[in-house]
Amino acid sequence: MAADRYDLIIRNAVIVDGTRAPRFEGEVGVRKGRIAKLGRGAGALRDAGADREIDAKGKVLAPGFIDAHTHDDRLLLSSPDMSAKVSQGVTTVVSGNCGVSLAPMVHKSGAVTPPLDLLDATGAWFRFPSFAAYFEELASKPAATNFAPMIGHTTLRVMSMDDVERPASAAEISRMRELAREAMSAGAIGVSTGTFYEPASAAPTAEIIEVCRPLTEFKGLYVTHMRDEAAKVMDSLDETFLIGRELGVKVVISHHKVAGTPNHGRSKETLAHISRHMATQPIGMDCYPYCASSTILTWSRVGPASKVLVTWSKPHPEFSGMELSVVAAKLGLSQEAAVAKLLPAGAIYFAMDENDVQRILSFEHTMVGSDGLPHDASPHPRLWGTFPRVLGHYSRDLGLFPLETAVHKMTGLTAATFGLTDRGVIREGAHADLTLFDPGQVAEAATFAKPIQAAHGIDAVIVSGEPVWENGAPTGARPGRRVGGMPRA
Ligand code: ZN
Ligand code: CU
Repeated sequence: MAADRYDLIIRNAVIVDGTRAPRFEGEVGVRKGRIAKLGRGAGALRDAGADREIDAKGKVLAPGFIDAHTHDDRLLLSSPDMSAKVSQGVTTVVSGNCGVSLAPMVHKSGAVTPPLDLLDATGAWFRFPSFAAYFEELASKPAATNFAPMIGHTTLRVMSMDDVERPASAAEISRMRELAREAMSAGAIGVSTGTFYEPASAAPTAEIIEVCRPLTEFKGLYVTHMRDEAAKVMDSLDETFLIGRELGVKVVISHHKVAGTPNHGRSKETLAHISRHMATQPIGMDCYPYCASSTILTWSRVGPASKVLVTWSKPHPEFSGMELSVVAAKLGLSQEAAVAKLLPAGAIYFAMDENDVQRILSFEHTMVGSDGLPHDASPHPRLWGTFPRVLGHYSRDLGLFPLETAVHKMTGLTAATFGLTDRGVIREGAHADLTLFDPGQVAEAATFAKPIQAAHGIDAVIVSGEPVWENGAPTGARPGRRVGGMPRA
């Protein structure tokens, strides 16, 4: 009998399968982009052959990581090798978070309304009138990673309202709802909001519910950067749960945190509240493994932070990477006046408590999401460092949770939360999205001072059976596709 033949075999691996089950020695045979054979035990596939073989040398083979929270909508098109992500072992990104999506939006002239400028400050990339048009372009020019896209409520507002600084009218709500329905039927997985930010902060709860009605019919997710992650965080949780119940859909709390010194320690309260509500409605959450946040520069956020770093500034690019206090001194201005001079700009804020970060990250239902901002001149290091930092710093070095749990938080849990069928697990029949890494060496290289650096210890990253990252560099392969959501009728 002829020996089994595969497109790719990975031999001598220690398999951490994404389910939280204990690791085991094994070998994987890949055929046509799927895991055709999972052999248990050393040398399980010794009699099989393949066009390509990778010797794992006893390192860990895990499902490809799924970045639960990204702003990669445009990166998929403008940097399709996706080095910031594949260098960390990420094979799928959930895009369109915090109310900000690239589609459906056609920018005409003038400045891009913040925070949509996180994706592109020039406006030139905002050129997709529908999700179908955006998906078509990504299907003809695929990226290295898969993507699971969401519709941003802020994008819908900017697209549908002449004045975004007030609640939407009934006519505007129905326009937004139609755009949301178009996106869901094209294959989006949900709607995100960013009511923390102007102008979405002008949207009352009822507007959000009415815009999100199509989620009920499509079984989509409601994902939110909540109105308040500081003093009123409990009210924000209640608003989120109410929206989920009203629509009958799963909610995901984005980058859960409690910001500002007076709120340090309050993750005990928020997690207890989330746990209680999980008993009666579906709730998910993500978290990035740092106690500094990063977003657009606003004076209101400077006060509660112990330190602020400027990440970019349109009028003053020369201050990227500098502390705001230093910039203010150089300009001979107060910090408030310096902020006004730098706008539009981005910043990193040191305003969280490490104990809260660890408590939230360890919570059983917390997924890992980078919330990286790929177009910042000097980005928060979470963009390049999130996944190796959880595996290395938090799991291995601090022992916050076992490796199997760390991997589950970035694979199986995430796929289950977002409905990404046959992903996030290593089993026969699943898509061959795989990451091979050295559990002793894996670590982030990106720092606040030098944020753009590929991680240590990530040996090979495979999407649909094709290596996309090897020997510390992208391979040039672009097998990424749209995942999750409704299949096109
Ligand atoms: Zn956010
Ligand atoms: Cu975000």
